[in-house]
Amino acid sequence: MDILVTGGAGYIGSHTCLELLQAGYKVTVLDNLSNSSEESLRRVQELTGKTLTFVKGDIRDRALLDKLFADNDFNSVVHFAGLKAVGESCQMPLEYYDNNVYGTVNLCMAMRDAGVKRLVFSSSATVYGDPASLPITEDFPLSATNPYGRSKLIIEDILRDLFASDEEWSIALLRYFNPVGAHESGMIGEDPNDIPNNLMPYITQVAIGKLQQLSVFGGDYPTKDGTGVRDYIHVVDLSIGHVRAIERLQGHKGVHPWNLGVGNGYSVLEMVEAFRSETEQQVPYKIVDRRSGDIAACYANPEKARTELNWQAERTLDDMVRDAWRWQSNNPNGYGHN
Ligand code: NAD
Ligand code: WQD
Repeated sequence: MDILVTGGAGYIGSHTCLELLQAGYKVTVLDNLSNSSEESLRRVQELTGKTLTFVKGDIRDRALLDKLFADNDFNSVVHFAGLKAVGESCQMPLEYYDNNVYGTVNLCMAMRDAGVKRLVFSSSATVYGDPASLPITEDFPLSATNPYGRSKLIIEDILRDLFASDEEWSIALLRYFNPVGAHESGMIGEDPNDIPNNLMPYITQVAIGKLQQLSVFGGDYPTKDGTGVRDYIHVVDLSIGHVRAIERLQGHKGVHPWNLGVGNGYSVLEMVEAFRSETEQQVPYKIVDRRSGDIAACYANPEKARTELNWQAERTLDDMVRDAWRWQSNNPNGYGHN
């Protein structure tokens, strides 16, 4: 079965391509490489011993999309392509709406015209805003607190409108919690372009000596130790969730939100301690002011994905930190020159 994967060279996309190839799917990746390198896909092919097709291009290029759909017989589209940095989205909201919202509309138009109506979309727990209670279920109210989050919420709304207009569509809204870690081979992983915004790559870059110390954003939240609590999920578990979603969409029309999280919350200091004890690397840190826009705590109720997708996260926190460190220490400069 043929699958188009937009943004497949990126962090979550490359891990998902690996799982799709291993599950026997034929994979075509469309990626403009704005935040990734083709080297990730070379390694995915090396790891699986299988080949995929890579097309360098942009989801906003309608002519290219039409040609791709005409030349292939895609069964489904897994759509990762987009921009994802919250802070940057506040500086350049138009680029975020252009890439994420316009790009997705363009993709859906090409899909509609080609008669391909199965879509797995990368949404985010950010669409829950600051939840009134925990854990979060899929029926919680949705809101946005920054342009990045709003782009995800707008896309979800567009996809709900699309299904209302044509009930032939099958759409998965996969709401990821906090993806971390790397493939256990240490050959593919997260390769931030700049200084990382996210906690886990920041920790690994401090441990390897690229950054001096971790700033812990806020020590006075109403949480177990005063630092922020999140639902960290191993990227391989998350990727397997995409394979299950594709399977479920066959024969299940509709717009289906699924939380992809573990269902446990860990604090920033628990993450630092788990990293230290599993890798024996010190991570010097300092507690500083809260980061604007952050919430105290966020974790999923993943029950709907468990019952409907037959999926649950299996990897532990120790697996997450160990695999993140194996990737970082084997590839100190990511996919660049090592
Ligand atoms: P990533 O930046 O590693 O991957 C995104 C990929 O899309 C990159 O390879 C980039 O080059 C490509 N891309 C961007 N704009 C494009 C365009 N216009 N046309 C073609 N390709 C384009 O990010 P990721 O962490 O793998 O995230 C994948 C998706 O999951 C994104 O949509 C992101 O918003 C979403 N998401 C990520 C997280 C997270 O914490 N990593 C959490 C929730 C949701
Ligand atoms: C985790 C915790 C920080 C960095 C973001 C997006 C969200 C989603 C995932 C895409 C928080 C603390 C972090 C640091 C710290 N992305 N922290 N020092 O903020 O939960 O979610 O990424 O959809 O939309 O908002 O993830 O990894 O940035 O932060 O203390 O240097 O670590 O305050 O408590 P977050 P994160």
